[in-house]
Amino acid sequence: MEKEVLERIKPSKDDFEKINNTVEEVLEALKGFEAEVHGSFRKGTWLKGDTDVDIFVFFPKELGKEYMPNALKLIEDRLRKFNYQINYAEHPYIIIKNNGMEIDVVPALRVDSGENAVTAVDRTPFHTALINSSLTDEQKDQVRLLKRFMKGIGTYGAEIKVKGFSGYVCELLILNYGSFREVLKASSDWRPPVKILIRQPTVVFDSPLIIVDPVDPRRNAASAVSLKKLGEFSIASKFYLEKPSIDFFFPPEVNEVDIKGEVLVSEILLQENVSQDVLWGQINSSVTRIRNQLKSKGFEVIDVQAYGNDRKIIIATQISSRFPPQYYLNLGPPFYVNAKGFFKKNENVWVGDDGNLYSIKKREITPAEDVVKLSIQVKHKYSLREYWLSERPKDPCLKQFLRKTPAWLK
Ligand code: UTP
Ligand code: MN
Repeated sequence: MEKEVLERIKPSKDDFEKINNTVEEVLEALKGFEAEVHGSFRKGTWLKGDTDVDIFVFFPKELGKEYMPNALKLIEDRLRKFNYQINYAEHPYIIIKNNGMEIDVVPALRVDSGENAVTAVDRTPFHTALINSSLTDEQKDQVRLLKRFMKGIGTYGAEIKVKGFSGYVCELLILNYGSFREVLKASSDWRPPVKILIRQPTVVFDSPLIIVDPVDPRRNAASAVSLKKLGEFSIASKFYLEKPSIDFFFPPEVNEVDIKGEVLVSEILLQENVSQDVLWGQINSSVTRIRNQLKSKGFEVIDVQAYGNDRKIIIATQISSRFPPQYYLNLGPPFYVNAKGFFKKNENVWVGDDGNLYSIKKREITPAEDVVKLSIQVKHKYSLREYWLSERPKDPCLKQFLRKTPAWLK
């Protein structure tokens, strides 16, 4: 099984050369700067046909974080002949797109140790050195398997959209446990908080998964991993070890699924380019707001999830019924606290067995689609289309949304 997967994902010399030619061109254009290749391409942990190349351009640390926008401009000036785009995430960088491959060019500060990192990416050269000096070629293939597994089950990526496992975390897991299988064995027994102390931390972390960064004991390399993704990975590990299948690495298409309850689809089309981290921060809070607002308006919420990429996002909202019950039980104060006021403001008031006042209230009915629309708060130009699912959807995300059970479980 794993051998078969490796054959599909391990790049050949040829794959390397093709990418490297473009990388050399970019490095040539950056001559005079301290430009270096890092990330999985440099570490030999990248996946065939599915990678970015990370080029970091180092500036003296005395220039400080504030210098990064200037640094970016200097870099941009050299790269005008390429087809590129600027991404203003927490850390600004340039994305070059060249026949199907992506090269990220990232400004960073040159520091003398990981512990002295100023910006989020200054530790990178130390990550590269650590991984290249401590993982064997066989273990790098094990990293590739683990990354593909994570991608297949949907837990790969530290970005806000996913809140899962970064490439570096996959490398650290292999470094700690030795192999793909050993990582899975360990993770199938995980109970949060999970602590992997490759090095003793110098601060206290509060996350479901704690992997102290060996190059900086002040940092939890796995701080992005959410409880949800930790759980998804752990159960996938359990099932895989019991019955390995290619489906974990390359998920099969989900069959058509019945609609249970009522499903509202909100399609958001962005009309401008936005940073994915910023956008997904807003999408995630919108999802939370949808859940809370619907509940407070009397709806029984089954599930709300967001899917999408770049400029098209869909939010699927599943509720038991489109019509919340008309009357509800209203809890008042204990009988000895301002009872008169409560009687005055309410009809049908009584004292409960617990000594609290209660009343029956009539609900103001707001249509669910209005509640959802008002809860979506995205601070960019967008258009919104809302519709109730009336027949089985074709969209793979919506199919998976209805199915719930992971695609790898037949
Ligand atoms: P990537 O996210 O590209 O990871 O960041 P990767 O290891 O190359 O994995 P894939 O194959 O592309 O998915 C590149 C490097 O930048 C550093 C890490 O050292 C990582 O290996 N980095 C990135 C940080 O230190 N902090 C960040 O927030 C992001
Ligand atoms: Mn990378």
